[in-house]
Amino acid sequence: MSTLLVTGANRGIGLELVRQYASDNQRVIACCRNPDDAAELTALAQVHEVTIQPLDVANFEAIDALVKAWDHGPIDILINNAGIFGPKVQAENDWRQSFGHMDYDVWAEVLRTNLMAPLKMAEAFAALVAASEHKKIVTISSAVSSIAETETGIYAYRTSKSAVNMAMATLANELRGQGIAVGLFCPGWVKTRMGGEGASVTPRQSIAGLRQRIEELNADQSPRLIRYNGDVIPW
Ligand SMILES: NC(=O)c1ccc[n+]([C@@H]2O[C@H](COP(=O)([O-])OP(=O)(O)OC[C@H]3O[C@@H](n4cnc5c(N)ncnc54)[C@H](OP(=O)(O)O)[C@@H]3O)[C@@H](O)[C@H]2O)c1
Repeated sequence: MSTLLVTGANRGIGLELVRQYASDNQRVIACCRNPDDAAELTALAQVHEVTIQPLDVANFEAIDALVKAWDHGPIDILINNAGIFGPKVQAENDWRQSFGHMDYDVWAEVLRTNLMAPLKMAEAFAALVAASEHKKIVTISSAVSSIAETETGIYAYRTSKSAVNMAMATLANELRGQGIAVGLFCPGWVKTRMGGEGASVTPRQSIAGLRQRIEELNADQSPRLIRYNGDVIPW
């Protein structure tokens, strides 16, 4: 049985990751900001080996405190899933990540959550991952990070994902010597609160693919951004 840690586990892609891994008899430490407001996760924890752990990934002192008090043993797969999109023009008519209207405090918050927190989690938990059997650190990025395929707008979100790609690609090279594989994956356009109802992929389909990609991930690969279906996305 493997042990996984998933951030942002109370809804969307994170919840489905917990559901599928736990249903497959894996042990999951499911981190979320508000366990009292996580009914679906609580229901999963009642029937599977799921431990719910309060964690706001933007609170780095809380990450340090969590690792200091850790009593769940080695972590086979650390999954940095928690993320925020920031203001949405289309759904909310909110232009704060559009050129000419940028809100730099919003940008800083998006960078802290989507870029810095995954590296902080990796720093905090690398030793526990290194002590495990499978030794994997995974970050959920996005195809909109791709400079090769850049369109317009969403400066905060787009740059946060491009930058986390660089951080994790660097980390992959750094941790290879310890046998730790570091992976970057795009889940597709998924029907979640972030992806919206018009998205093309269900969480179930996306996570079924992501689990295969995570299974295939190994420390010898060069860093790449891979879609849930196995396509390689140009940086
Ligand atoms: N959906 C898509 O189409 C899509 C496409 C590409 C990439 N992604 C990426 O996939 C990941 C999951 O997205 P999703 O679609 O599941 O989004 P979602 O439905 O909006 O869920 C986001 C999750 O992240 C959590 N979160 C946000 N900030 C956090 C923080 N500071 N500390 C802890 N948890 C935090 C949320 O918790 P709360 O409930 O407490 O807010 C929630 O559980 C994100 O990294 C996203 O960028 C999604």
